[in-house]
Amino acid sequence: MGHLALVLGFSLIAFGSSQDLDLQTSITHDYKETTEPVRVTSPATEPPTEKPTEKSIESSIRNALKFLISQRESDWSWRNDTSKVLTALKLLNVYEDVLDDLLPSAYEMQLSSKQMEIEIVIMLWRHHEVPIPPSQLAEYCLALNALCYDPRQFHGHDLIGTLQHHESTNDLDFAYVTLAACTARAHVRKKQIRRLLDIANTAKDHNIDTVAMTILALRCIVMDHRHRNLQHSLRRPSISLARQQQSDGGFGNLYNTALVMQALDDMTELKSHWNKTAAKAYLESRQDPDGAYTDAGLTSDVLLALIDKGLGVIRLMDCGRHDSDYDNNVDIEGLTKSLSPHGNDSEIRNVTVTYSLWIGSNITENCTISITAPRNTSFYSIMQMAMDLDPHFTFEASEWPNGHYVHTLAGYKEEPMGYNYWLLYRLPELPDPTAPPANQLVAPVGVDDLLIEEGDHYLFWYKKL
Ligand SMILES: *[C@@H]1O[C@H](CO)[C@@H](O)[C@H](O)[C@H]1NC(C)=O
Ligand SMILES: *[C@@H]1O[C@H](CO)[C@@H](O)[C@H](O)[C@H]1NC(C)=O
Ligand SMILES: *[C@@H]1O[C@H](CO)[C@@H](O)[C@H](O)[C@H]1NC(C)=O
Ligand SMILES: *[C@@H]1O[C@H](CO)[C@@H](O)[C@H](O)[C@H]1NC(C)=O
Ligand SMILES: *[C@@H]1O[C@H](CO)[C@@H](O)[C@H](O)[C@H]1NC(C)=O
Ligand SMILES: *[C@@H]1O[C@H](CO)[C@@H](O)[C@H](O)[C@H]1NC(C)=O
Ligand SMILES: *[C@@H]1O[C@H](CO)[C@@H](O)[C@H](O)[C@H]1NC(C)=O
Repeated sequence: MGHLALVLGFSLIAFGSSQDLDLQTSITHDYKETTEPVRVTSPATEPPTEKPTEKSIESSIRNALKFLISQRESDWSWRNDTSKVLTALKLLNVYEDVLDDLLPSAYEMQLSSKQMEIEIVIMLWRHHEVPIPPSQLAEYCLALNALCYDPRQFHGHDLIGTLQHHESTNDLDFAYVTLAACTARAHVRKKQIRRLLDIANTAKDHNIDTVAMTILALRCIVMDHRHRNLQHSLRRPSISLARQQQSDGGFGNLYNTALVMQALDDMTELKSHWNKTAAKAYLESRQDPDGAYTDAGLTSDVLLALIDKGLGVIRLMDCGRHDSDYDNNVDIEGLTKSLSPHGNDSEIRNVTVTYSLWIGSNITENCTISITAPRNTSFYSIMQMAMDLDPHFTFEASEWPNGHYVHTLAGYKEEPMGYNYWLLYRLPELPDPTAPPANQLVAPVGVDDLLIEEGDHYLFWYKKL
C-alpha cells in the first residue's frame, strides 16, 4: 500500500480547494473564538422542564441530544467519537420538526463533517505507524454514508476497499466491517455471507454484541435483491437474540442493549419474544443527570436505539441515488425527505486497473496491460477488453452455472495431469516477478463476481501447484 500516502497527499490539496470550506481554516482552529456565538442551540444551563411540543418526544432523547451538543469541541469534533455522534445526529433528523431547537444547523453539521474528514485523512496518513483498527474505519465509513458521502470515493480513495482488504479474525469487527461495506452498497462476497450465517447460527458460542452486529449486517445484505432468499435464515437467530432479554429489561449492559435493540428494530414478527418498553426503560434508568449515557460515543449508540433507527437504516437513506436494488417495504418514514444530497453518485466513475499474465512457476514470460472501465465492471469484462486490445491476452473459458471458468490463456491450457493451472490473484500493487505474491492473495471468487475497484492489480499466473 505504498501508494496510499501519495494518493492522499494529492487528495489533501484537492480537499482544500474543491470544498466550500478551507481545510487550513479548520486545522488552525480559527473557529475557536466564535464557537459560542455561532451556536444556535439552547445553552446547557436551560432548566430541565420541557416546553410541551405538539408531537412530544421523550425527554431522554432531548436530554441525550443536549448532552452531545454540550460535548462538542471548539474544532467541531467530538474527540474520538465524532463519527458516531455525527451518525446519530444525522439519523435524528427524522425528528427535525420537534428537535429543531437542539439539532445543529446545516452549517454546523458541515463544519463537523469537515473535521471528521480531516480525522480520516490523518488516520490514513499515519497508517504505517499506527495501524487502522477495522472497527474505527468501519465507523467512519458508516458516518460518511449517513452524511451522503460515498466512502468508496473518499477524495479518490476507496475506504471500503481498504476495509475489506484484510478479513478480520475478530467476529465482531468482521460483522461491523461487512455492515459498513453493505451499507456502502459494495460487493459482499459469498464467503463473507457464509461466515455471518455461521456466526448467527452458532449464537451461543458468541458474545451478544457480536450476534447483534451480525444480524444488523445480514439484515443489510438481504436488502439486496440478490440475497433476498436469505431472509428466512434471519428468523431463528433473531428470536434467540430477542430471548436473551434479562429481567431488568436490558441485554447485559448499555452498549449490548442498544445494539440488540437496533438489530431487532421493527421486526414485528419478534414482538412476542421480547419487551421493547422494558428495554427502553432499562436504557432510560441508566441515563446520567446531564443526559449522558456514560460518554458521547455510547450516548450516540443509545440514541439510535431510542429513536428506533439503528445502523441498519443507513443503507436506505436516499442521498439522491437511484438504485433498483432498493427494497421499498422497509419503513423509513421521513428519513429520506430531510437528507440533503451531498455526493454525486450519478456520475459514473471510471477506474484503472492492471492485468498481468505470468507463465511458468519460474515466470519465463510476463506481460501487463492497463485498462480503464466503469467502477462496477466485472473482471471477466476486463479480460474481454484486454483480449480485444492485445492478442497476448486471448483466452478461452467454459461456462458453468456459477460463471465462467478460464482454462486457456495466451495459448496455455491448464494441464490437470501435470498440475499446471491458471491462478487468479487480486493484488494491491503491481505484481513483481522477483517477489511473487503469496497464495492467500488468490482471488476469493470467480472472474464474473470480481468487480473492479480503483487500484486493483490482477494477475493470472500459469504455475505448477
Ligand atoms: C476515546 O478516548 C477516550 C479518552 O480520551 C478513551 O478512554 C477511549 O477509550 C477512546 N475510545 C476509543 C474507541 O478509542
Ligand atoms: C413490558 O415491560 C413493561 C415495563 O417493564 C411492563 O409494564 C409491561 O407489562 C411489559 N409487557 C409485557 C407484555 O410483558
Ligand atoms: C453530478 O454529475 C453529473 C455528471 O457529471 C452532472 O451532470 C451533475 O450536474 C452533477 N450533479 C451535482 C449535484 O453536482
Ligand atoms: C469512462 O471511459 C469511457 C471510455 O473508456 C469514456 O467514454 C467515458 O467518458 C469515461 N467516463 C468518465 C466519467 O470519465
Ligand atoms: C525453476 O528454477 C529452479 C532454480 O532456479 C530450477 O531448479 C527449476 O528446474 C526451474 N523450473 C522450471 C520449470 O524451469
Ligand atoms: C517482466 O519481468 C521483468 C523482471 O523479471 C520485469 O523487469 C519486467 O518489467 C516485466 N515485464 C512486464 C511487462 O511486466
Ligand atoms: C454498473 O453501473 C451502471 C451505472 O451506474 C449500471 O447501469 C449497471 O447496471 C451497473 N452494472 C453492474 C454489473 O452492477
